Amino acid sequence: MSEHKSCCRVCSTGLYSCHWRGSSKSKKRKHGCCWLSFVTLVSLLALCWMYICLVAFNDREDMNWKVFSKLKRWVNWFMVLIIIYSVITTYCVLLLLFALLQVALGERLDLHWLHKLSLFIGVTIIALGVMGISIVWRQEWPVVPLSLQITAPFLQLGAVGALTLLSSFVFHSFHRTKRGLQLLIAVVFVTVSAVIFLCPLYIHHKCPCLIESELPDKPKLFGHRGAPMLAPENTMMSFRRSISCGVTAFETDVQISKDRIPFLMHDQNQEFLLRTTNVKRVFPNKPFNKSTDLTWEELQSLNAGEWFLETDPFHSVSQLSEEEKATARNQTIPSLRQLLNLAQQHNVSVIFDIYSPNSEDTKDIVNTILQSDIDPSLILWLPPEEREYVNLAAPGFIQFYNNKTKMFENGGNHLNVKYSLLGTEKIRELRRKNVTVNLWVVNERWLFSLLWCAGASSVTTNSCHLLRDMNRPDFSMRLHEYKIIWILVDIASVLIMIGLYIFQW
Ligand SMILES: *[C@@H]1O[C@H](CO)[C@@H](O)[C@H](O)[C@H]1NC(C)=O
Ligand SMILES: *[C@@H]1O[C@H](CO)[C@@H](O)[C@H](O)[C@H]1NC(C)=O
Ligand SMILES: *[C@@H]1O[C@H](CO)[C@@H](O)[C@H](O)[C@H]1NC(C)=O
Ligand SMILES: *[C@@H]1O[C@H](CO)[C@@H](O)[C@H](O)[C@H]1NC(C)=O
Repeated sequence: MSEHKSCCRVCSTGLYSCHWRGSSKSKKRKHGCCWLSFVTLVSLLALCWMYICLVAFNDREDMNWKVFSKLKRWVNWFMVLIIIYSVITTYCVLLLLFALLQVALGERLDLHWLHKLSLFIGVTIIALGVMGISIVWRQEWPVVPLSLQITAPFLQLGAVGALTLLSSFVFHSFHRTKRGLQLLIAVVFVTVSAVIFLCPLYIHHKCPCLIESELPDKPKLFGHRGAPMLAPENTMMSFRRSISCGVTAFETDVQISKDRIPFLMHDQNQEFLLRTTNVKRVFPNKPFNKSTDLTWEELQSLNAGEWFLETDPFHSVSQLSEEEKATARNQTIPSLRQLLNLAQQHNVSVIFDIYSPNSEDTKDIVNTILQSDIDPSLILWLPPEEREYVNLAAPGFIQFYNNKTKMFENGGNHLNVKYSLLGTEKIRELRRKNVTVNLWVVNERWLFSLLWCAGASSVTTNSCHLLRDMNRPDFSMRLHEYKIIWILVDIASVLIMIGLYIFQW
């Protein structure tokens, strides 16, 4: 047989163990099996980790921002990590496939030392990633169970498929082992199968996109600093573009200049102006750590658009036309007044954060709003610090809370929180109580779909241009249809397994 190895056999053995010639008989069968288990475990780990990375993709900006505030350099670190981890995952999964091929062909399973070393390096890099999230980005973990509420039905179907394929290997070793071990294999296999086959009974109640009655209305869109993927954030161009995405509110950040003009800028303290303007070039010798270090005139002399074309924070600049690029290149920092005028013109609401507000800042901002003649019901007031004063000075504003307890204490019914803070069950409950629920920052279609099914009133988003075009959630299904599907798939899988078992016997 050794001279007539098929190409497939040679390749598989070659890639797995680096024996390109005929092989001697196996001495270390046990070791081979241990390494096979190791490869399997690492592959599963890599797949789980890749899943987590893809789910966290919605919040990539958050992580890039964390690194930026340390290194003062804007790089799309998240993308770099995604690429590294996809290489690791692809490698592990390919290795596992070759291992299974070796088993299927009845070949030896000795893993080459280079593969062993690479696997250890892979595990280390993944462990570093897990540690990294746990230490500096712990608030990201709840996103994983949340994502399962939409992916679980697919994962279950995938698991049934994988189980059906693997059963052939299990039966193979079952028929060859001793009695005692047979019992163990049978118990483990039947338990795992039962869990995988029956978990839809649990999934039923946890997935809002398996709907029993009506699909809720599509959540409205709030433009997060405008449309930051289509134009430099917090510029008039950005807000104009978000109008063409059909947003119903502008989300922004307000700070006050030295001469008490409220203007729009997100970054503050150490990072103030550094990321989104050319302040270093224009005022090399001026201190600019606080908004009140610069006058409105000085702020106006800064360019707030070139950075967007240079750093391309969302890999979206290539989609802009030459004309749009020219407009982007010409953006300056807008004042709150300019934004209010635009909002008034287009009947769009405004919601904003104020950083470290004192009563004087709040007063100036409220006065600016009252002096513009925007309809007060278009102002969604968020900063909690001076709420009582604002309620007296401007009773027409709509009060939004970022704390549920506080909202109920004050008899409010508008809530604005991070999307992972409320479970979908909680969102439904609040909506039943007629509470308006806005969730930030929702950029990916799967997440938007999930929150849509759960009944969110609106979401703050970077990607209004993507979410605008969705007419339905990407996945939603009647509960009874899902029941039929999973039961049929389960039955098909059991029948195939029985067939395989009898065949191998
Ligand atoms: C840039 O903006 C200024 C005013 O903000 C305007 O006068 C000028 O025409 C603009 N230039 C271009 C190329 O759009
Ligand atoms: C503004 O929009 C709201 C809904 O968002 C609508 O009820 C209201 O009639 C609009 N007002 C004007 C003047 O168009
Ligand atoms: C929300 O408000 C309540 C009472 O006002 C307070 O006890 C609680 O700590 C607040 N929660 C958060 C997350 O700030
Ligand atoms: C919510 O509002 C609807 C109509 O606006 C009303 O019929 C219902 O009673 C309200 N529910 C609660 C809990 O206030």
